[in-house]
Amino acid sequence: TSTHGHGPFIAAIDQGTTSSRCIVFDRDGRIVSVDQKEHEQIFPKPGWVEHDAKEIWANVQQVVAGAVEKAGITAADVKAIGITNQRETTLLWDKNTGEPVHNAIVWQDTRTDALCKELGRNVGQDRFRRETGLPLASYFSGPKVRWLLDNVEGLRERAERGDILFGTMDSWVIWNLTGGVDGGVHVTDVTNASRTMLMNLRSLAWDDRILSSMEIPAAVLPEIRSSAEVYGTAKGGALDGVPVASALGDQQAALFGQTCYDKGEAKSTYGTGTFMLMNTGDEPVQSYNGLLTTVGYRIGDQKPVYALEGSIAVTGSLVQWMRDQMGLIKSAAEIETLASSVEDNGGAYFVPAFSGLFAPYWRSDARGVIAGLTRYVTKAHIARAVLEATAWQTREITDAMTKDSGVELTALKVDGGMTSNNLLMQTLSDFLDAPVVRPMVAETTCLGAAYAAGLAVGFWPDTDALRANWRRAAEWTPRMDADTRDREYKNWLKAVERTMGWIE
Ligand code: G3P
Repeated sequence: TSTHGHGPFIAAIDQGTTSSRCIVFDRDGRIVSVDQKEHEQIFPKPGWVEHDAKEIWANVQQVVAGAVEKAGITAADVKAIGITNQRETTLLWDKNTGEPVHNAIVWQDTRTDALCKELGRNVGQDRFRRETGLPLASYFSGPKVRWLLDNVEGLRERAERGDILFGTMDSWVIWNLTGGVDGGVHVTDVTNASRTMLMNLRSLAWDDRILSSMEIPAAVLPEIRSSAEVYGTAKGGALDGVPVASALGDQQAALFGQTCYDKGEAKSTYGTGTFMLMNTGDEPVQSYNGLLTTVGYRIGDQKPVYALEGSIAVTGSLVQWMRDQMGLIKSAAEIETLASSVEDNGGAYFVPAFSGLFAPYWRSDARGVIAGLTRYVTKAHIARAVLEATAWQTREITDAMTKDSGVELTALKVDGGMTSNNLLMQTLSDFLDAPVVRPMVAETTCLGAAYAAGLAVGFWPDTDALRANWRRAAEWTPRMDADTRDREYKNWLKAVERTMGWIE
């Protein structure tokens, strides 16, 4: 019996870039309990970012137990588990021992830059774009798999023998959750698979031609399934016996949690990075303006829903960098206080191209700059430039979305940790010259995974029932005059130019 008395519940696991969390939801989509744990960010060389997959799995088990305990419930009260995760982050492990063969290579990592250039030689960055919707860039999983096969001694032979499994974090969590070496299921969903650069967007199957161009043996690949169906049952742990019933990349989960079920509906999630996705219906739409074409979600055997995506690598992680690497603030929340202590950026612009530039540029050779410095500039101006960087990068994405879709932005639905920063949200509305709205449940990533799992097991009847749960909590409207906005945007774009071509 539950202390909340409103059971049964759905549990969602979000294996993110900086932390893993578990949230228990009730039937109204309300949060019953949350548990969360950060994991180590490993930076072995400039541009490299790794995670310890064993630490991540241990944390996942811990937060699941934590959330169940805080809710005062047992596994019997939970109807399904939904999985959502940082996308593209790449792991290979031994299926006989469950041991990772190397740290996971994180999506932000740029080590495959040269490999991507090589793969695009004579053909260009769009070599696999028609099939996958993605430009050749160090962001995606395929080249990371290839890098591991080329660089971990003896790995290619073990992989060809069938001893090695590849997975993004959804696959790793589901495999472990459903028993690991003891019968764990090796699957991924269409949304995560669409970020590997190895899946064909229309057939939703691994693409043999790309696999052979990238020299990746098919034996390592998980089975591609829909985003909402029962993959297996949790074995052991706090949710022993509960069906594992959804998997979506975190950004697709947020699209689902924001109930963007109609063509033209979009959301932007402010986490480590920022990702804007627009539902484009049951046909993949090619971008001519630097966006990605990706799978939005697929419920069971229904038609897949596609999305256009604008990806920004560095937003929340720039605030973390200010805190951890620069020591300019003590907590992430302090960035707002510091930035609010000045009227404007004092002439400074910060382009955080730490992982190269993602949309709309796709330049792995870019690196960060702070431009416009004079003796006048203080750390408060830099703090302001840090927040403005997130807002300007969003503006570049919405401009590209407008060009690709022909739809003018009337309002932007936002979510994620950074949306608690009021100054940022006001700046965003100012730079976009459009209202910015945030729903009651800002944890839309977990909510989306819970919704998909709940649909799969009949906990919720259909998406209309989910839509009814969406309620507006906050709204910001533009206050900036057009002249200031235009002048500032021009300066920002000048600063962006200065980041490119830094890596030869
Ligand atoms: O593509 C990377 C994205 O999935 C990471 O999201 O929220 O962990 O920064 P987040």
